[in-house]
Amino acid sequence: MAIQEIRACRLDAEQFIAEKVAEIRQTVGEGLAINALSGGVDSSVVTMLGHRALGERLKTYFVENGLMREGEPQQIVDCFAALGVRVELVDAKDKFLSALRGLKDPEEKREAITQTFYKDVFAQLVRESEARFLLQGTILTDVDETVAGIKRQHNVFAQLGIDPQEAFGYAILEPLIQLRKDGVRKVGEALGLPPEVFRRIPFPGPALAARIIGEVTPEKIELVRRATVIVEQELADTGAFQYMAILHEDRVTGVWQGRREFGRQIEVRCWDSVDARTATPARVEWEVLERLGQRIVEEVPGVVSVTYGIAPKPPSTMEVV
Ligand code: XMP
Repeated sequence: MAIQEIRACRLDAEQFIAEKVAEIRQTVGEGLAINALSGGVDSSVVTMLGHRALGERLKTYFVENGLMREGEPQQIVDCFAALGVRVELVDAKDKFLSALRGLKDPEEKREAITQTFYKDVFAQLVRESEARFLLQGTILTDVDETVAGIKRQHNVFAQLGIDPQEAFGYAILEPLIQLRKDGVRKVGEALGLPPEVFRRIPFPGPALAARIIGEVTPEKIELVRRATVIVEQELADTGAFQYMAILHEDRVTGVWQGRREFGRQIEVRCWDSVDARTATPARVEWEVLERLGQRIVEEVPGVVSVTYGIAPKPPSTMEVV
């Protein structure tokens, strides 16, 4: 059955919240549910919605997959503690890294992350907590792109004919599935999330692995993580929809600390978009790009080339993997 889209301009956030809270209560009944908070807009909104519906009967986890941005796990835990939501950190770094070892193909990497999340980490959390439901922040754009065969988004199942109950042993509730990012932000604001959370730029489920071309290794994660800090600092004032650093697989000749270096290349992308379905490269001021390039080559060891992505989506996609 096709999902009925609720466009942001038509969305009555208060009414939406009341309906979803009632639905979640009814479905979960007296039982327990769990959810994974990544700190992104979608999972933050689901966390608040779920806690409003279930209170302490929703257990919220932050899965440390080793692919998150600098300082992210603790920041998220602290931010939600201030909102009265207890978030438990789950260390699954080794599981994700070993699942990704040796994989180069983008869809194989996405599949490895999906399987590790759902079949391994969540399945264990469900067993230990005795929850029967997983609440998650799938949005309509995730479904569209997966069904169209463009990109297998990490969190889409039913639309691919996969029954999570059968495949993983628990049911998945997706209260945001009729919305796109702009609608989710409206709901986040109405739920009382702070602006730095509901306005946060999107970050994909596969995290930094979506920004590493080729095999994901600890060394490459560290490199892209460092470049991400700089990109997010320098582009924060652009007001763009999303910005990111991407690590290319090809190396190029450069000079680093006075010596020839067959070095790394970082691509910076900065997108203007409303709902991520289409996007255009933002017209970032040259001075900003120049400073960005300078900082990346100075602060990220081994990087000798920085480029700015200027192709629109489509045919590009926003992430590279
Ligand atoms: P693409 O790269 O498909 O990205 O143009 C569109 C938007 O979706 C985000 N994205 C994801 N979000 N799981 C998610 O929750 C995923 O697997 C995933 N892949 C991409 C991306 O960051 C952009 O905002």
